[in-house]
Amino acid sequence: MTIPNQIADLPLLTGIKLTGKVAIVTGGGSGIGKAAAAVLAHAGCRVVIGEYDAVRGTAVANELTAAGFNAIAVQADVSKRADAQRLADAALAQFGSIDILANVAGVYPAALVANMDEREWDRVFGVNTKGVFNCCQAVIPTMMANRRGAIVNIASVDGMQPGIMPGLSGYGNAHYCASKGAVLTFTKSLAAEMAPYNVNVNALSPGWVATETALAGGRFEEGLKQVPLGRGAQPEEIGQMILFLASEAASFMTGTNLVFSGGSVMD
Ligand SMILES: NC(=O)c1ccc[n+]([C@@H]2O[C@H](COP(=O)([O-])OP(=O)(O)OC[C@H]3O[C@@H](n4cnc5c(N)ncnc54)[C@H](O)[C@@H]3O)[C@@H](O)[C@H]2O)c1
Repeated sequence: MTIPNQIADLPLLTGIKLTGKVAIVTGGGSGIGKAAAAVLAHAGCRVVIGEYDAVRGTAVANELTAAGFNAIAVQADVSKRADAQRLADAALAQFGSIDILANVAGVYPAALVANMDEREWDRVFGVNTKGVFNCCQAVIPTMMANRRGAIVNIASVDGMQPGIMPGLSGYGNAHYCASKGAVLTFTKSLAAEMAPYNVNVNALSPGWVATETALAGGRFEEGLKQVPLGRGAQPEEIGQMILFLASEAASFMTGTNLVFSGGSVMD
């Protein structure tokens, strides 16, 4: 992905401006998170990248800064509450507010339940589910005080419909499916709690997305056979949906799960 040029012409970017908004993007060092950071920066946001891998996070922040955008990177393990707080504190110290939180950080190892390692279960839930809770809890005091905000939690179609046979998306990673299912219900609960404060909380469930990690998983081509539209999404397309959910255009949406799957799961 080229940050400065190719994505500037994305359809939603021509119409949605979030000038001056402060957006935290977890997992912003690669894949969907990197694309989301770039899309939000193009829309006018000041971007805070929360990333476990400091080298990757800094590289994306530097790339955005070199292209003329406002961006910083904070090394943070979202599964740790203290790191999530440090991330929110850094956003406030650098940019003075927090308007948008995109919870993108996630891990998706494959393992059958029969021989799944207990520590892997804990790691998947720690990053994918507790990480979402940690980051939400760290930003909501600011959003509640501001009486505005948008939180977008990246779930997955695997959290809605785990695959029922080998080769299908969600087959052989029950921990991942369960962790994302929990994100979906957490999103609804938090949306109800935040509604009186004008804070919108939504989930976004992608199907197959052509990121390096997903492609390296070895199941991508096989997985596309279950996609009626016959292709995987590009990370920038997910970035655009995050932009939409973070924008005024979606101000009447909360507690929703936006499915973006090429038809692999229809809902
Ligand atoms: N790629 C897909 O097909 C697909 C489909 C549905 C949902 N998703 C979800 O989208 C998200 C991003 O997926 P991706 O394909 O871009 O993956 P990716 O591996 O390219 O990016 C994930 C990023 O999160 C970071 N990260 C991992 N653990 C972290 C932690 N504890 N704290 C902070 N950062 C951490 C990684 O370093 C990495 O930069 C994940 O939540 C994933 O479950 C992906």
